[in-house]
Amino acid sequence: MSDLRINPLCGYGHITVWQLPMAVAPAPLLPLAAAAGGGPLLFRQLFDAETGTFSYLLADVPSRQGLLIDSVFEQHARDLSLIRELGIKLVACIDTHAHADHVTGSWLMHQATGSAIGLAAVAGAANVTQPLGHGDRINFGARFVEVRATPGHTDGCISFVLDDHSLAFTGDALLVRGCGRCDFQQGNAHTLWNSITTQILSLPEACLLYPGHDYTGRTVTSVAEEKAFNARLGGQATERDFVGHMENMKLPHPHKIAEALPGNMRSGKPREVVTTSTWAPVALSYAGLPELTPAWVVAHQSELTVLDVRSAEEFNGPDGRVAGSVLISLPELVNRISEIPADRPVVVVCHSGSRSALATQQLLKAGRQQVANLHGGLSRWTADGYPLEGEIEA
Ligand SMILES: [Fe+2]
Repeated sequence: MSDLRINPLCGYGHITVWQLPMAVAPAPLLPLAAAAGGGPLLFRQLFDAETGTFSYLLADVPSRQGLLIDSVFEQHARDLSLIRELGIKLVACIDTHAHADHVTGSWLMHQATGSAIGLAAVAGAANVTQPLGHGDRINFGARFVEVRATPGHTDGCISFVLDDHSLAFTGDALLVRGCGRCDFQQGNAHTLWNSITTQILSLPEACLLYPGHDYTGRTVTSVAEEKAFNARLGGQATERDFVGHMENMKLPHPHKIAEALPGNMRSGKPREVVTTSTWAPVALSYAGLPELTPAWVVAHQSELTVLDVRSAEEFNGPDGRVAGSVLISLPELVNRISEIPADRPVVVVCHSGSRSALATQQLLKAGRQQVANLHGGLSRWTADGYPLEGEIEA
């Protein structure tokens, strides 16, 4: 759009209109570059509310190579959808230790993306493809994390320090204003004191420390903060103070330990790999929505109900519709679900995939199981070259 301004120096009758040149729109960023805020490194903190576990996704934007730290088995679909939506090539799924409270998603991610499985070699877990030790570097594109042995919570605990020492992932060795327990899994408070003081608190004061867990909503801390405020080891605390604290905590065992530890000693490979029969190659979006592509829907259209949730005007208008599709507009859907045949899968469509996303959620909430959204809606359907009935060419 041009910008019109009146020259204030001109008298009436001599109004000059300056037509400024059109602003040049910046080229759109690729999703990964945008997700990284325009910078060269993507960093995302992910959370599993059930176990209070943080997972971390790092990616080098130019190469698109990434790492996933401390993934959670039950969050695999979420993590995979984010990795796929951002176009990340996952190099490795790495764990800070063999967790006692949740099972890693490493093996599932290895199956899905071919990513390496990294864990401390001394943990001795099966299915590890990249055994790690102190001083190792895990490269992703032009970046790397450094492995630091930080035993004491378990004897296989490691921390990951970003190459420029701006961030570190401390697992359960150091938590925000706390630290991992030392009373099982080969824990030792003297060892943990040594690990924290020589390998973590020796990092620059401004190095941000990302923990393996938090149960009260604290997401990050820094070296300077923990030196000052960690009640177990900060301030004037000595090793004797720290050990005295840790050896008298009398904590209950984590309630998932019986299943979590054996699961993690298999790197998260299920005891039995159950192949579930799914009705379609449904991809779960990061928004948690089951989605299908136009190509699959076209190939299986005769076995499906294609439900169009646009308005009647749009359905019968020049944009056209999928041949044989059924119209129930979104505002009416909740009251008319019983009209949709229950013996066939349903693929929900609209113009862009937005209204159909809500409709898909409503059908799932109503108990319908074989339901998916048409990813990208009829816009993508047309862009992919598939015809629409009643479409009027522009
Ligand atoms: Fe732990």
